Formats: sequence, C-alpha cells, structure tokens
Amino acid sequence: MALTLLNRNKKAIFERCCDDYATKMLLKYKPFYHAMDAQQGAHVRLNGRDIIMLASNDYLGLSFHPKVIEAGRAALLQWGTSTTGARPSNGSRACHVELEQKLAAFLGREACHVSVAGYISCMSSVAAFAQKGDVILADKNIHSSVLDGIRLSMAAVERFSHNNPEDLRHFVKTIPYTTPKLIVVEGVYSMEGHIARLPEIAEIAEESGSFLVLDDAHGFGVLGRQGRGTVDHFRVNDKVDIICGSLSKSLASTGGFVAGSRSLIDYLRFHSKQTIFSAAISPSQAACAAAALEVMQSEPQHLDRLWRNVRRYRDMLKGLGLDTWESDTPAIPIVLGSKELVYRFWQALLEKGVFTVMSIAPAVPPGKDLVRTAVSALHSDEDLDKVAEAMAYAVKKL
Ligand SMILES: Cc1ncc(COP(=O)(O)O)c(C=O)c1O
Repeated sequence: MALTLLNRNKKAIFERCCDDYATKMLLKYKPFYHAMDAQQGAHVRLNGRDIIMLASNDYLGLSFHPKVIEAGRAALLQWGTSTTGARPSNGSRACHVELEQKLAAFLGREACHVSVAGYISCMSSVAAFAQKGDVILADKNIHSSVLDGIRLSMAAVERFSHNNPEDLRHFVKTIPYTTPKLIVVEGVYSMEGHIARLPEIAEIAEESGSFLVLDDAHGFGVLGRQGRGTVDHFRVNDKVDIICGSLSKSLASTGGFVAGSRSLIDYLRFHSKQTIFSAAISPSQAACAAAALEVMQSEPQHLDRLWRNVRRYRDMLKGLGLDTWESDTPAIPIVLGSKELVYRFWQALLEKGVFTVMSIAPAVPPGKDLVRTAVSALHSDEDLDKVAEAMAYAVKKL
C-alpha cells in the first residue's frame, strides 16, 4: 500500500515534467541551448554557418586575448585541472589568493572572496548577511541569483519599483530604524542595460542605516576608471558595503567574487553555505580572470573600443525605430512586447547570421518581451555593418 502511494507520487512528478507546456514549446521552437561547432572571437560556427555572436557578455573581448589564454594554460599545467574540493576542506591555491588580492585592490576594498560562479557569489552576498527578523529591500528587476539569496536568508522582503529611489524611500520609512535592513540593487541591470541610480540609493541606505549590497556583474569592466564598475563611476565607494559580481563577463573567465571589508569577507567565509560547501574555482579560471584584470589596466583600448561600438550600435537601432528600453550600457535589449514578435525577430536575425537571445515574460515584466543583445569590443566595423543589415531585415519581418 505504502509502496503504491510512493510510486504514484513519483509518477506525478515524472508526468508533470513530461507534460510541462513551457518545456514542450521551447523544444519545439528551439531558441536556447544551441551547440556551436567552433568559436573565434565574436564569431561562432553553427550548423556549418559563420554567425556573429551578439548574445555573450564578453564586453571587453578578452576571452581570446593571448595573455589571458596563456595564463590559463600555465595554471592548468602548474595546478592541474581542478582542486577537487571546497577551500575550507582542502585549501586555497596561491592563484585564488592572488586573484582575490588583485580584485580587492582594484575595487578599493580590504578583501575579496572568489567562488566557482557569479550566481553563488551574488546569492551568498545576500544569504550570508541577512537573517530572519531583518528586512531586505530589493529592486523589482533584480537577478535570479539575488532572489535565491533572499529566499535562503529567511528575512522579510519588500520589492521596490525598478531603479526608483523614491519608492525605496517610501518602503524604508515604513520599517522601524532599529530593524536591520539590507538594500540590494544591480549596478547595471543585465536585461535592461540601465545604470542604477546609485548615489540616491546609497544616500537612502546611509540615512536609514541600511546595509547596501551591489551586484555589479554587468557594471564591472564597463563603467568607472579602467572598468572599476558602477561604484567607481559614481565615486560612492565608501557607501556600498558589499560589491559582488561575475568573472564570466568582462573578466572572460568563469566564477564570481564578493568584495568588502576584511571583517565582512571573513564572516562570509565562515557563514555562507554556498561558500563552505562548494568546490573552489578551478586554478586555470582564476588565472584567466587575474590576467584579464591586468589587461584591463594595461590596455585601455578595449574599453575605448567597447564604448565606440556601443554608441554606433545603439544609434543604428534607434535609427531603425527600435525600442532599446533606454539602455545606457553595452547590454542592449530590443523590446518588442510579445513572445510572437520576439520569436520572429530573433529567427530573422539568425537567418541573417546574427545570434541573439530571446527573453520573454516571466523572465521580463509583462509587455517587455525582448531580444537581448550585448556589444563587445571584439565586434569589428564590418561585424556591425552586417548586424545593421540583419536588423533592418528583421524589422521588415515584424
Ligand atoms: C546580474 C547578474 N548577477 C549574477 C549573475 C551570475 O553570474 P554567473 O553567470 O557568473 O554565474 C549574472 C549572470 O548572468 C547576472 O547577470
């Protein structure tokens, strides 16, 4: 009897997965999980065709930089493929510590902790510091990693309107001053490309005694002096408690970081489950990120080229009458408003040799269904000409 019941429950879950409408639709239209046969810079080979990649976050284009590749190769030979364990268990490697010291110095922080994914770093930046009884104030459009961190923390949560300090202030006023509060925002919003109104948000955090966490996955490398990020862009370094982000965008690697004061990073290392019970970032990935960080400081041409490309690309989209959601950064959405239009537009671009990514509700707010694109310093003038032709073609297909 008990066994029959167990089997029935198991079957219910199995059937739920097999019958899932969203999965069936995604399998039918195949917008995701394409397997590229090869890649060289901003070009990939897909089904035998050369395609311009316009969906990656390789903003500075360092993923094929010779110094970055060489650093990864050398670390692979020196340290092997993996540390095969979590750092509290079988130790850090010199390359982890070096990367952390370099990142902390670059960001003007006392300490930094790197992990195997930006997702883990951003999740732990909230989950480790907030707890039951606290209140978290989070922007409505915050990344999924931070949302998971909020859930894990067991703190209460209020979501304020996207990038709206006035709404944040309204919520803050309803919470007693003595209640511990954590405010969390992104430096550059990954879908929208909006830059956070950080000076006003930091002021509210200061006035209300709130702990301020910034996910700068898309601001790092793109904004501020030499790409120091959103905090540097606005010169509010003393007002943000924790900066977290990803190594998989401008740093052309894989992994994540959390930077802050020495005491906060020590606390994170002993309290964050994601940090304690997850294997270390591989030495070769740490070495690639460290090399990319050096290149960011010694070769300003990549950041210059990126912004030149952003201006040219954005002007072209606007010239075609496309809605870019007022993006101010290299992450540029093309808002089309329905999943049908998004699919048609995305497919037309692919037909013309340009790879982008669809983002539809609930991943974006209703009515904001979009094709997300991101410009890289690696895109040549010729690439951007081809992208312009493809966009004009896709507009006609709408
Ligand atoms: C805002 C934001 N935070 C965190 C992450 C997670 O970073 P990673 O891809 O390195 O895990 C992402 C990745 O897309 C992101 O966009």
